[in-house]
Amino acid sequence: MITFNKEFKTFRIDTPNSTYCITISEKGYLAHSYYGSKIGNDDISYLTRQMEYGFSSSEVFREKHSLLDFLPQELPTDGVGDFRESALSIYNNNGNNGVELKYKDYKISEGTQTIPGLPAVFDRNSKSQVLEIITTDEVLGIEVSLMYTVFEELDAVIRYTKITNTKGKNPVYIKKALSASFDMDDNNYDMITLHGSWARERHIDRHPIHMGKQGVVSMRGETSHQEHPFIAILENKADENTGSVYGLNFIYSGNFVADVQKSQFNSLRIVMGINPENFSWKLNPGETFYTPQAVLVYSNQGINKMSQTFHDLYRNHLIRSEYRLKERPVLINNWEATYFNFDTEKLLSIAKEASKNKIEMLVMDDGWFGHRSSDDSSLGDWIVNENKLKGGLKYLVSEVNKLGLKFGIWFEPEMISPDSDLYRTHPDWAIQIPEREPGMSRQQLVLDITRKEVEEYAYEAVAKILRSANIEYVKWDMNRQLADIGSINLPSDQMGEFYHRYVLALYRMQEKLITEFPNLLLENCSGGGARFDPGMFFYSPQIWCSDDTDAIERLSIQEGTSIIYPLSTMGAHVSVCPNHACGRVTPFKTRGYVALSGTFGYELDITKLSDEERNQIPHQIELYKRYGDLIRTGDYYRIASYSQNNEYDCWMSAAKDKSKAIVTFIQVMNHPNYKTRFIKINGLDDNTLYKITFPDENQEQNPEIKMTGLTLRNAGIPVKRDWGDFQGKLIYIEKF
Ligand code: DGJ
Repeated sequence: MITFNKEFKTFRIDTPNSTYCITISEKGYLAHSYYGSKIGNDDISYLTRQMEYGFSSSEVFREKHSLLDFLPQELPTDGVGDFRESALSIYNNNGNNGVELKYKDYKISEGTQTIPGLPAVFDRNSKSQVLEIITTDEVLGIEVSLMYTVFEELDAVIRYTKITNTKGKNPVYIKKALSASFDMDDNNYDMITLHGSWARERHIDRHPIHMGKQGVVSMRGETSHQEHPFIAILENKADENTGSVYGLNFIYSGNFVADVQKSQFNSLRIVMGINPENFSWKLNPGETFYTPQAVLVYSNQGINKMSQTFHDLYRNHLIRSEYRLKERPVLINNWEATYFNFDTEKLLSIAKEASKNKIEMLVMDDGWFGHRSSDDSSLGDWIVNENKLKGGLKYLVSEVNKLGLKFGIWFEPEMISPDSDLYRTHPDWAIQIPEREPGMSRQQLVLDITRKEVEEYAYEAVAKILRSANIEYVKWDMNRQLADIGSINLPSDQMGEFYHRYVLALYRMQEKLITEFPNLLLENCSGGGARFDPGMFFYSPQIWCSDDTDAIERLSIQEGTSIIYPLSTMGAHVSVCPNHACGRVTPFKTRGYVALSGTFGYELDITKLSDEERNQIPHQIELYKRYGDLIRTGDYYRIASYSQNNEYDCWMSAAKDKSKAIVTFIQVMNHPNYKTRFIKINGLDDNTLYKITFPDENQEQNPEIKMTGLTLRNAGIPVKRDWGDFQGKLIYIEKF
């Protein structure tokens, strides 16, 4: 619910458990007056401390610098006296910077709004509202609208800004346009960020906030394996289930920044948006620039509740695909099975064995086009290699379909190999700085899709293949990051627009793709999980989580990913051992359990599996069919984290009505003298009697148990020891 109290000059955004307030200050600035657990309908303008003094000794008629350097701001600007991190920096045509926004007007409207060219949260059967607070800088001739979206059922506030050059003949230059910012007093807060590398994405890092600036960034042209557009600010005593937590996540797939600055008066400024480094945007008179949306989630019940709010927001209000909550076809992907070394015969032999074992789709990965037999060529030449695929793609797809399997295919549309016909014809289509030899990565360059003709070529190359056969799934990959930024499309005063224009072109291409092929199941991917971000969810319901398919490595990767994203979105497959990323050997059963908490599928040569392992596949698929719905739609609970306790991992998906739940338990380290573990289950109904079964265990040794939710929560379920390393168990809990 959004309201404006004229007397208190305060906007209130009320969600079920939080209140967010913006107060118009005496001098017309927008002050951030409150964000946290619900408060009453009172005059809270005192929270903006306008009458207190910092640097200046004058209390009431304070000088501007003193006020701005002290005031908790809603969209701090650069160059006029707030010396903390700014969220907006604009230069006029003469090169002077300085933005001073004063309140002008507001609008409250029902429903959500789209943002031209960018993903945006939308309404689906709930009540939502948008608040637009309009501010102006008359000197610069700009109007800046601060936009806030809320859904009645969620403790989330989704922000972005609209910047319009409203008057004059001259352009202005935006140097920094962040999407969200708010200030609050530090309260011994900690900060959580997600860090990683290739094959080690999104590991959780928690640390106390110190003085000065700290945060996460990407300058890689994409979200990245290394840092993630997410920060959580939380009370240092907060844990999974208690305490105040503020989470921020960015609905964008390019360079980002998310910072916390603790400054002189022990206040925190938290900002998130497009990374201003190497960014600028020329705004001609009459033009508007839209920032991407940043999501702010507040939880007063710890980290887990914050995660659940993000999950519900993304499942219900960001993912558009018809697959968002639906069962996905169980696929088998040939990447780890064959790498580049395959032909029609090999793929059909995999498909034949797969169909006997209840697998539903074959995905042909990298290497089917041009003359690609390693990663050194052919990107851009999206023409079927008929030496490998004898009889062509149509033949292969129809043979796969005859076996009762769907067919999916891999692309890397944004790339160009120097050894390709495309590069030989259009060397200038690769991103590069004139006279500087562009740096290679995975032996490839990146196409300048900010150029219309290049974007069209790349899109058509994909679409043409999809039009040529019955292809029901696409894996859209991206295996290098952007550097040597230059485009013949852009004049020098617009070169700073390149990175953002690149993301806009990517979004345009994927929008076209899902419009032309509305039933396509699209999976995004970037050398594993470097493009696992909410921006991509607007186009694809699932994203490949990581190239590390080892079940134990995946515990940390999937746990970190679950901090923000629902299990329904996590691309997860069972692969062979020793694992190709780390050499570990784990039981096939455990690999299945870990993949079950994702989209589920296989990435192995099924024709080479031992009978003992292959025979487990139909049963694993049966488990996916039995529990998949609960996993995709349920509330997620992190129960124990191997990365913290170094012994075991445990998590649960519980039905929204608390009638049933599926718990996954993985014993990572085994010790002698191991006792039965009592796993405490938070999140069910205290007064309900539940029946607990171990669906995959010997029933005599693990008989059914009955207990109330209260006992489950405080005493726990007894989980017996299994012999050997890396053993897993499923525990099914159902209302008795
Ligand atoms: C990186 C992906 O993450 C892998 O799954 C695979 O598709 C390779 N690229 C193919 O080059």
